[in-house]
Amino acid sequence: MNQIPVGVLGLGKYVPDTVLTNSDLEKMVDTNDEWIKTRTGISERRISAKDQASSDLALHAANQALERANMKAEDLDLIVVATVTPDMSFPSTANILQSKLGATKAAAFDLAAACTGFIYGLSTASNFIANGSYRYALVVGVESLSKITDYTDRNTCVLFGDGAGAAVLGPVEEGRGFQSFVLGSDGSKGDLLKLPAGGSLHPTSEETLANKMHYIHMEGREVFKFAVRAMGSSAEGALSKAGLEKADIDLLIPHQANVRIIESAVERLELPKEKCVVNLDRYGNMSSASIPVALAESWEEGKIKENDCLVLVGFGGGLTWGASVLIW
Ligand code: UT7
Repeated sequence: MNQIPVGVLGLGKYVPDTVLTNSDLEKMVDTNDEWIKTRTGISERRISAKDQASSDLALHAANQALERANMKAEDLDLIVVATVTPDMSFPSTANILQSKLGATKAAAFDLAAACTGFIYGLSTASNFIANGSYRYALVVGVESLSKITDYTDRNTCVLFGDGAGAAVLGPVEEGRGFQSFVLGSDGSKGDLLKLPAGGSLHPTSEETLANKMHYIHMEGREVFKFAVRAMGSSAEGALSKAGLEKADIDLLIPHQANVRIIESAVERLELPKEKCVVNLDRYGNMSSASIPVALAESWEEGKIKENDCLVLVGFGGGLTWGASVLIW
């Protein structure tokens, strides 16, 4: 069966107004600006308001993406929201977003693949379009990580931030759009990065609250080692699946967790630094929102030209990893 080529028709992003700087964190935990900058590359991150849910962040990003695609919410056939910080367990954040947008004819569901969520979402939605099931899809990566972060734990609280990125997908001309996807997972290492309570295994109770099981738990050093391997091999895998080589990359858009992880990927892919997008200094790690926000910003800054070869690559909790080659 002939597949319909699928690409990005519009991009949007949103980050909350409140900025949490390294010096703010110095007043909260035993840390310092120098440690955070040299070990992670992060200077500040955005924090959502108390009454701002993930669907609210997603709404801003989605509206911008729709406007830039010159489309209305009613045109959407599908909404996929990648998030590990949904508004609530159910209804899905995609359902809530659908209602806020007025995307009346869209099917909607959430997808949980942590920091790789946006790439999983792109792959899922583009398959629906490629096989003719749907014509237009909205894929959102959104996180309110500040709401599941323990601001007394210096190992994690310096890393995370809130934000949303969105892409409208649809048919494009032959030779453009997504050329390949590589997705992977290793559930046996799920314990390295998790939110233990609030699900069916540990329903919220006084005990889970007392043990801080409603916050992110992470074995940072182990995740770091995995990330360095996963970034390089996923990007190479996606390139080879697309019949392309490292030298063909015009822009690498990596998950923004730690600048040292990004630098190791740049080295392995033999890229000049200017061909890699880094914005974690301003936003920290926004999990599934990191890649779409970096993609939207790159587009806004005019860094993406027609026919450019973009490689999106990410890794995260699950453990999960994934990459995609996108010809603009
Ligand atoms: O999106 C995917 C999710 N996560 C990631 O990708 C995270 C991957 N991991 C990392 O980015 C890094 O492992 C971290 C940034 C989390 C930690 O950096 P590291 O270089 O691996 O440090 P470490 O965990 O080996 O800790 C080194 C030292 C320790 O002190 P001791 O035991 O050597 O005395 C920590 O207690 O740094 C200490 N430390 C801090 N010091 C100041 C840990 N956090 C902090 C902090 N400020 N915020």
